[in-house]
Amino acid sequence: MARVKVFRCRICGDPYIGTRAPEQCPFCGAQQRYFAEAKDWNSDEFNVSLSDVARKDLEAALELEIDNTKFYDCAKNAAKNAGDEYSFAKFKALMKVELEHASAISKFLKVSLPELEKVDCSTDSQENSKEGWERESRAIKSYAKFRDEARESRLKEFFGALVEIETDHLDLHAEDLQQKQTKLINN
Ligand SMILES: [Fe+2]
Ligand SMILES: [Fe+2]
Repeated sequence: MARVKVFRCRICGDPYIGTRAPEQCPFCGAQQRYFAEAKDWNSDEFNVSLSDVARKDLEAALELEIDNTKFYDCAKNAAKNAGDEYSFAKFKALMKVELEHASAISKFLKVSLPELEKVDCSTDSQENSKEGWERESRAIKSYAKFRDEARESRLKEFFGALVEIETDHLDLHAEDLQQKQTKLINN
């Protein structure tokens, strides 16, 4: 049997133990190619000297991630109250991933994460999936712009990875919304 090793995700910095790097980071959702063996870890991954544009873009990204974390937290609780375990699981996972993104961004900015106050959302999980889809679309647009603006290769890579991850989330919402629609048509 293959022996386990310690890996680290270069997008969120979190460690992972397994025989190989996971297909997607269980913490931030980054693809397998962003993993490095922990013994080869570059301790300067999050020490990037930031241009004014990079700082402004990272600050905007942090606000976006915090905002989406709070939204998914509300959506997760609403799904739980409605007894919708699938949506509860989906929104909870999304909340954790977005919080991980906020935490990675805060490492570049050298700031601590703000308190997460409660926000309102719909009591209906389908409405929340729709809003989630819109939020992910906005995030993808912003991160594609930040990726293209970045002069720092590390930030280009980081924002590029976020575009991929948020696109996975977008597809997930789209699939759920489509399935719901197909059910309504067939019933
Ligand atoms: Fe990660
Ligand atoms: Fe995110």
